[in-house]
Amino acid sequence: MKIFMDTGNVEEIEKFVDWGVVYGVTTNPSLIAKSGRIQEEVIPEIAAPVKGTVSAEVISTVCAGMVKEAEKLSKIVGNVVIKIPCIAEGLKAVRVLRGMCIKTNVTLVFSMGQALLAARAGATYVSPFIGRLDDIVEDWVKLVENIVKAFKIYGIETEVIAASIRNIEHVERVMLAGAQIATIPTKVLEAMIKHPLTDKGLEQFLADYGSTMK
Ligand code: G3P
Repeated sequence: MKIFMDTGNVEEIEKFVDWGVVYGVTTNPSLIAKSGRIQEEVIPEIAAPVKGTVSAEVISTVCAGMVKEAEKLSKIVGNVVIKIPCIAEGLKAVRVLRGMCIKTNVTLVFSMGQALLAARAGATYVSPFIGRLDDIVEDWVKLVENIVKAFKIYGIETEVIAASIRNIEHVERVMLAGAQIATIPTKVLEAMIKHPLTDKGLEQFLADYGSTMK
């Protein structure tokens, strides 16, 4: 499972790219707003340090508007992927963009049916929002498992990005469910490196090494 970061904050991305763990980035209008900057300005900075793709979301809700925004965004940097909401106009836009060789990430996916439609319209990625399903006590693990399984059965190449991740359990369980990618917020990535036994063990090793230096 590849790790993407779910943030619009350039410093945070650079920090985890330095760790060597981040392959791509996803953003959305809420995350860009938190950065206090505009999308056109922040996307090139986000895209520069990452090897993989950067998802930038359209705000239009009609096909023609989405396509226009997508064309503009895809001119900013080469590795941008257009994030399109899972609505009927969005599917139409995915189809048009596929024909233009522009990659898409269909977002706000909450069901198998939506995932299938997005894939058949030609989406490069689908993003089930597992945290929001967990919030309403829906079986988010099953949804990811089922989408991955069904895509495999039918030879669908669309990749699954597990999104709306809130904690380490979400990461671990979508990894076992077979998601190709998890897009993870900074605070969860920071929590993933920590274990009290690692700190305790290291402290002991350093103390023992120190005792041999006398
Ligand atoms: O990748 C989707 C994500 O940004 C949404 O997360 O926490 O707002 O449900 P959240």
